[in-house]
Amino acid sequence: MGEVDAAFIQATEHRPKLAIVEADGIPLIDLSVLNSPDLPEPDAATIRPLIAEIGEACENWGFFQVINHGVPLERQKNLEVAARKFFALSKQEKKKVGRDEVNPLGYYDTEHTKNVRDWKEVFDVTIQNPTLVPASHEPNDKELREYINQWPENPPELREECEHYAKEMQKLAYKLLELISLSLGLPANHLNGFFKDHTSFIRLNHYPPCPVPHLALGVGRHKDGGALTILAQDDVGGLEVKRKTDGEWIQVKPTHDAYIINVVWSNDRYESVEHRAIVNSEKGRISIPFVFNPAHYTIVEPLEELTDDQNPAKYKPYNWGKFFATRKRSNFQKLDVENIQI
Ligand code: SIN
Ligand code: FE2
Repeated sequence: MGEVDAAFIQATEHRPKLAIVEADGIPLIDLSVLNSPDLPEPDAATIRPLIAEIGEACENWGFFQVINHGVPLERQKNLEVAARKFFALSKQEKKKVGRDEVNPLGYYDTEHTKNVRDWKEVFDVTIQNPTLVPASHEPNDKELREYINQWPENPPELREECEHYAKEMQKLAYKLLELISLSLGLPANHLNGFFKDHTSFIRLNHYPPCPVPHLALGVGRHKDGGALTILAQDDVGGLEVKRKTDGEWIQVKPTHDAYIINVVWSNDRYESVEHRAIVNSEKGRISIPFVFNPAHYTIVEPLEELTDDQNPAKYKPYNWGKFFATRKRSNFQKLDVENIQI
């Protein structure tokens, strides 16, 4: 092991099996029926099978991939290229836009998941710049603070590419949100109100080649916070999803021009699913999650429409912003939803 810091080494039971697991992957869903400005009527024959497919994928996997999603491929590719250029800079350059105690946006390479260091470096960008978040976790504290994006000098196009990409991701996120609402038997726009002042962000992940890929992880096992995550990955591959039926780690092989969707919200009818990223000794990998988060003042609680005597609420209501702000200062994305379970 020699040169690798012990902080990166996973406990034996969490180390990846690097042999390919031959199994059916997460479902692949074709969204081409949506490629018109408005969603077709929910009970139109053209869209009903799609809603059913989404419902099944959410229930059985919590993850699916989408193709024909309407996002121009060049948006993702251009951002990937800009991200690679940024991560190729010296540490010293990258740390000029390093995050700090006050502002968690920007560059860092010290994230830990479940107390083990991740083999990755990250650049975080908020979509609504600045993003308002509560100043503290105290329930009666009404003070707000701002998270502000930091942009590196190089590559100069990084900012514009992030902004273009963010617009496309928001459009896709709303389409998905509407489909998910419909699949839960709710009106299409039922959840949209939570996202008026959303606190969503884009993360650029770079996983450098790792000399000990059998001992470390790019990102350790976790569940996402937010409502849903739209993940782009390059053609290297590394994402693994924990299959609900048997707890086996299943690799999500890169699919050309597809996005991976991780559905987080809905009182465990669609349970948030654990995933992780493995690394390899030869190739660096880029992945780009867009995390769709509600407004800071949102009280997140199980929807009344989804709870009843047989299916009672499994989560305590919580203020999204306070949760987000305090968790994010130490750890931007991994809002450990288990911690708030009743
Ligand atoms: C994440 O879930 O944090 C990233 C997953 C990936 O890089 O595939
Ligand atoms: Fe994640």
